[in-house]
Amino acid sequence: MSLLLHLILYLLLLTVVIGDILRPRFYSETCPDAESIVRREMKKAMIKEARSVASVMRFQFHDCFVNGCDASLLLDDTPNMIGEKLSLSNIDSLRSYEVVDDIKEALEKACPATVSCADIIIMASRDAVALTGGPDWEVTLGRKDSLTASQQDSDDVMPSPRANATYLIDLFKRFDLSVKDMVALSGSHSIGQGRCFSIMFRLYNQSGSGKPDPALEPDYKNKLNKLCPLGGDENVTGDLDATPLVFDNQYFKDLVSGRGFLNSDQTLYTTQETREYVKLFSEDQDEFFKAFEEGMVKMGDLQSGRDGEIRFNCRVANRRPIDVLLES
Ligand code: HEM
Ligand SMILES: *[C@@H]1O[C@H](CO)[C@@H](O)[C@H](O)[C@H]1NC(C)=O
Ligand SMILES: *[C@@H]1O[C@H](CO)[C@@H](O)[C@H](O)[C@H]1NC(C)=O
Ligand SMILES: *[C@@H]1O[C@H](CO)[C@@H](O)[C@H](O)[C@H]1NC(C)=O
Repeated sequence: MSLLLHLILYLLLLTVVIGDILRPRFYSETCPDAESIVRREMKKAMIKEARSVASVMRFQFHDCFVNGCDASLLLDDTPNMIGEKLSLSNIDSLRSYEVVDDIKEALEKACPATVSCADIIIMASRDAVALTGGPDWEVTLGRKDSLTASQQDSDDVMPSPRANATYLIDLFKRFDLSVKDMVALSGSHSIGQGRCFSIMFRLYNQSGSGKPDPALEPDYKNKLNKLCPLGGDENVTGDLDATPLVFDNQYFKDLVSGRGFLNSDQTLYTTQETREYVKLFSEDQDEFFKAFEEGMVKMGDLQSGRDGEIRFNCRVANRRPIDVLLES
């Protein structure tokens, strides 16, 4: 075989096995303003509704853990496909999809069919952190968008708010994310809100005991009891930390004083393997920021190796998986 053929075969293999090769400034030639457009749209969204940037940042986690960072979670259901929007962790919970739609629309105007929705999620998540007072970092780009999505795949992976630290350590390890990465990434809960629905069990029946989680600090528990009474509206939301609009290390200070909102948060302090990191981050914000950046970059590198495309609309695949089969 000729050298060229070898090279082509090798490159094909590389894209199939490893996925897309990601690098900084991927759009510097094809869409030089891509990153500034995303930042501008995120700023607009934040001015319109401060919480929305937190909601968008959460997309990175829910996207990357389910078959890699491929914008699968943005796909609307079709007659042949139940996607991720209705999965246990996402239904009535993920929000601000329209912010991504606005970003995509602005990008399509500037450079049609060039910037993937998967990359939009990565850029926008970084911007959410930078715009709320957290660190700013360079992201690698060049992801493709998935052709499909699966509710089941999301249900199989995404953790419940009831999860404990041991479970979360094991889960993150499956994605090559260390204990330190996991604790730092949980620090994303420095911004945003959660529903009463997510904490009813810890307020009234922790582990089926009929009692509240003993780790709850009493004043904070009373506050949550008022916000989330038994039989009340479980769609009511509460702040994930004491400064929900500022990305800082307040979240870790709150965990140290028993004021974590979710069980999955508080368990990071009550469990020995994670406690030292919570302490460290509560005392040293720079350490938290550094570890958080590292974790976000690692999580952003997750890929499925499946065939992909650049969608025109983040909610709709251009090609269906069946078309791909017919093409080959
Ligand atoms: C460690 C395991 C994690 C668990 C169990 C978890 C669970 C949750 C839950 C239950 C909520 C509230 C949802 C609701 O009540 O509707 C939430 C909110 C949020 N999560 Fe996580 N999460 C985890 C890790 C992460 C990671 C790694 C990120 C991002 C890097 C993230 C970003 C967020 C954000 C920003 C919010 C607030 C969203 C808003 O205000 O709309 N979470 N999470
Ligand atoms: C943590 O959760 C897992 C599974 O959800 C459970 O089997 C385990 O007993 C829990 N560990 C602790 C220390 O509560
Ligand atoms: C608490 O949970 C246990 C086990 O899931 C259940 O049997 C019990 O009925 C619950 N109690 C209340 C008050 O909901
Ligand atoms: C929360 O609101 C949604 C609609 O936004 C509704 O379908 C759901 O039943 C509500 N859930 C609870 C627990 O009240």
